[in-house]
Amino acid sequence: MPSPRNKPLIAGALVAGAILLGLGGQFAHSSYEAADLRHRAEAMTGGDVKRGKLAFSRYGCGGCHTATGLPQANGMVGPPIDGVGARAIIGGRLENKPDNLMLWIENPQKVSPGTAMPNLGVTPRDARDIAAFLYTRT
Ligand code: HEC
Repeated sequence: MPSPRNKPLIAGALVAGAILLGLGGQFAHSSYEAADLRHRAEAMTGGDVKRGKLAFSRYGCGGCHTATGLPQANGMVGPPIDGVGARAIIGGRLENKPDNLMLWIENPQKVSPGTAMPNLGVTPRDARDIAAFLYTRT
C-alpha cells in the first residue's frame, strides 16, 4: 500500500499520464485523418500529393494563391487554395471534379478565355499531382 504521504504524487502521476495519453490520442487521430484525406485525394486523381505540393511551388502558383503551411504561397491575385477541394465550381465555370481541375490547371485560358490565370505550361503528369495536392485542401 502506498503511504498517505505519497498519495498526491501518485494522483499527480495519474493525471499527467492521462494528459499524455489524451495528447497522444489526439495526435494519432489528426495524423490518421491527414493520411485518410491524402489517400482519398490520390485515389480520386491518380496523382501523388507530395509531388503535387512540390510542383505547386515550382510553377509559382503561390505567387497568386495563398495556401496555409506553404510560406511562399501568399499571392492575393487568385482565390485561396484552402477549401478548393470543397468548392462546387472551379474558375467560375467548371464543375469541381478531378478531370476538370486538371484541365483548368493545364489550360485555364481554354476553359475561360481572358481569365487572369495564365497558362503556365503545366504538364499532364504535374497537373494530376497538383490536383491530388489541391484535393487535400478541403
Ligand atoms: C498570375 C496569377 C496566377 C497564377 C500564377 C496561378 N493562378 Fe490559379 N488562379 C488565378 C486567378 C486570377 C484565378 C481565378 C480565375 C477565374 O475565376 O477566372 C485562379 C483560379 C485558380 C483555380 C480555381 C479556384 C476556384 O476556386 O475557382 C485553381 C484550382 C487554380 N487557380 C490553381 C492554380 C495552380 C495549381 C497554379 C500553378 C500551376 C496557379 N493557379 C497559378 C491566378 C493565378
